[in-house]
Amino acid sequence: MKKFSILAIAFIAMMQQFSFSQGASISTPQIEDQVNTILNSLSLEEKVGQTCQITLEALLLRDASGKVIEPLKMDPERVREAIVEYGVGSVLNVNWHTLDLETWEDVMTSVHKPFTSNESSVPVIYGIDAIHGANYVRGGTLFPQEIGLAATWNETLAMQFGEVTAYETRAAGIPWNFSPVLDLGRQPLWSRHFETLGEDPYLASKMGKAIICGYQGSNGISREHVASCMKHFVGYSNPVSGRDRTPAWIPEKYMEELYLPPFKAAVEEGALTVMINSGVVNGIPGHMNHHLLTTVLKEEWGFEGFAVSDWEDLIMLHTVHRTAKTIKDGIVQAINAGLDMSMVPLAPQYKEYCSLLKEAVQDGSVSTERLDDAVRRILRVKVILGLYEKNMNQKRAYPKFGSKQHQKLALDAAIESITLLKNDGVLPLKKSQKILVAGPTSNNLMYLNGAWTHTWQGDQSSFNTENRLNIRQAIEGVVGQENCLFSQGAELYNRDGYEASQFVNLQDFEEKANAADVILLCLGEFPSTEKPGDIRSLELNPEQQELAKIAEKTGKPVVLIMVEGRPRIIREIVDDASAVVQTYLPGDFGGDALGKLLFGEENFSGKLPYSYPRYNGQIEFYDHPRSVARHKSNDFNGYNPQWDFGFGMSYSNLQYSNLSLNTDVITENDSIVVSIDITNTGNMDVKEVVQLYVSDHFASVIPTGKSLKAFKKTEVRVKETKTVIFTVSTKDLQFVNAEGKWVVEPGSFSIAIGDQSAKFELK
Ligand code: BGC
Repeated sequence: MKKFSILAIAFIAMMQQFSFSQGASISTPQIEDQVNTILNSLSLEEKVGQTCQITLEALLLRDASGKVIEPLKMDPERVREAIVEYGVGSVLNVNWHTLDLETWEDVMTSVHKPFTSNESSVPVIYGIDAIHGANYVRGGTLFPQEIGLAATWNETLAMQFGEVTAYETRAAGIPWNFSPVLDLGRQPLWSRHFETLGEDPYLASKMGKAIICGYQGSNGISREHVASCMKHFVGYSNPVSGRDRTPAWIPEKYMEELYLPPFKAAVEEGALTVMINSGVVNGIPGHMNHHLLTTVLKEEWGFEGFAVSDWEDLIMLHTVHRTAKTIKDGIVQAINAGLDMSMVPLAPQYKEYCSLLKEAVQDGSVSTERLDDAVRRILRVKVILGLYEKNMNQKRAYPKFGSKQHQKLALDAAIESITLLKNDGVLPLKKSQKILVAGPTSNNLMYLNGAWTHTWQGDQSSFNTENRLNIRQAIEGVVGQENCLFSQGAELYNRDGYEASQFVNLQDFEEKANAADVILLCLGEFPSTEKPGDIRSLELNPEQQELAKIAEKTGKPVVLIMVEGRPRIIREIVDDASAVVQTYLPGDFGGDALGKLLFGEENFSGKLPYSYPRYNGQIEFYDHPRSVARHKSNDFNGYNPQWDFGFGMSYSNLQYSNLSLNTDVITENDSIVVSIDITNTGNMDVKEVVQLYVSDHFASVIPTGKSLKAFKKTEVRVKETKTVIFTVSTKDLQFVNAEGKWVVEPGSFSIAIGDQSAKFELK
């Protein structure tokens, strides 16, 4: 093993480290004084109102039959009743589809009028799901969904995504974003897998922190930033059944080691709000889990912001979960568990909520101290966001809204996310080739964006962003229409709440497949999220697999382009494909990005943020304990995913060498400096994600086979050798033991980077 000067290496390591703000309080004594003064001026009714959040729909003008009038108009009487009479503290969402900046300004002016005209003493905080860009503001810049951002493994890009999204959301007057999702993607059946940052807690923590830093700013919140909202605390993403909002079982050890760390990292980053898990973990609904909401989040981690419920979830403690005999009991359970704001979105339910919570405080079932604590937290965030400045609705210029500069970042993010999973040499394509673009996801932009795009489910192409390219249009743009054949082959749709597909003119498909030099077959999923996105099986549906088999039988090279929010099983069509490209849900610029990557104008650099399963019955993760792989007698036994976590190819040829540790023996509180050389022997520059994994050889409870402890995305030019330095501390060797305590145990460990590995001892 090569050893080298610790000082020199430590310096380089310091220079290479990406750092965000850490662990400071989100407040100041001045803010606390202001908050206490406001709090002391509020009546019981006003305090209760502050904890109440309603949806925009409850404030809109309706026709005689009660239907919301389109295009939407605010109803001054409903606004007065909710915000002045009930003192509602927050409004959320969008009605029906994307609004333009002018309409948003009208909405915001109207929502803030009670405050600006002194009819109400507290401003409203407006929240929205701008989860992959300002997706409810017409003209907003749409990035890849979170799973794609994770696949970039690029913290700087994640932060820039956060900055652009915050800026464009604030341009619409909205100061609060229900994002990022920090739930771990460890249940690929789950309809919201694409909203996660993948399966690994370290990657999710790093990328989550970067996004929050972008949303909230690294030097305090300005009019260009928004409050972030960590979602959905905690364990929502792991339903045993795979169906949305069904129970999860998460043993304490794995809650500590896997599910909590991304949220803890986000609290350290200063995240201002959190949304609670709608589901149930270990038999306890998220909204009444005092241990998680109060003991862990607020007391142990010192979270100073506020916790908002998810949609109608207090009511569901009574109607669905049955832990509360009445709606009032549900409210009491949730507020006493540590919930601060209740999404009781519709009328008249919000009115009932307000009167029941008031009653609960008057009869002592919720203490005044608990109510005050909740309101203090909400006011703190309102003050930090600058909502008390009454001029906030004056038309402000946000000249960079939807700008070329923002669009370039969205394109870069798409380019860096798209992941090459197989290539027998067919890629890069040549412009002289006759190309068939085919498949259900090839011809419509909505497939590239997925849900939470212009509408909740993102499944109505009439609302697609104007002038953005779907895959077919992007490829035609590169090779010219005359060199591009098209045949859809199959279409996807939603039948009675389930995904379905059917063939479209198979004869045309076969004829064009035979006439082409290369077949780009675009497969994947119909846009969906939450309950409508539940699926019966992870297998890609039969018509799409059949289409691939027909294409592969022609003997022409087939490139499978996956456009999917979850890793759908494609085992039976991979071997005969010449190449496989995972696009995730790459957003409005996904078509352009794909065009550049397929023709070699850009290099691939995305890496899978999850283990891509091979079989429905074999859902395993890269950090499995060794026992998972002890009977490896065939491809179904043992850990054998279709592609491994962290995998992704490029057009370059990279060689890892000289893995070196500055010492091979450390004691507690020491750290090890690790160095690795990466040489590009190919003929194209590449951004490589260098990943460092640690393995514990023996421990008092089963150790993981390996765990990601550091990564760095770095450019390696043709013929260049790059040295990358990491620091591994004993904190990285910690795990939760049989007593439920985080410990470090002495023993042997290995560090692996690429195909290189080295051992060290902790004495
Ligand atoms: C989702 C949340 C979302 C909220 C507001 C809920 O149904 O679970 O993720 O933030 O709606 O739109």
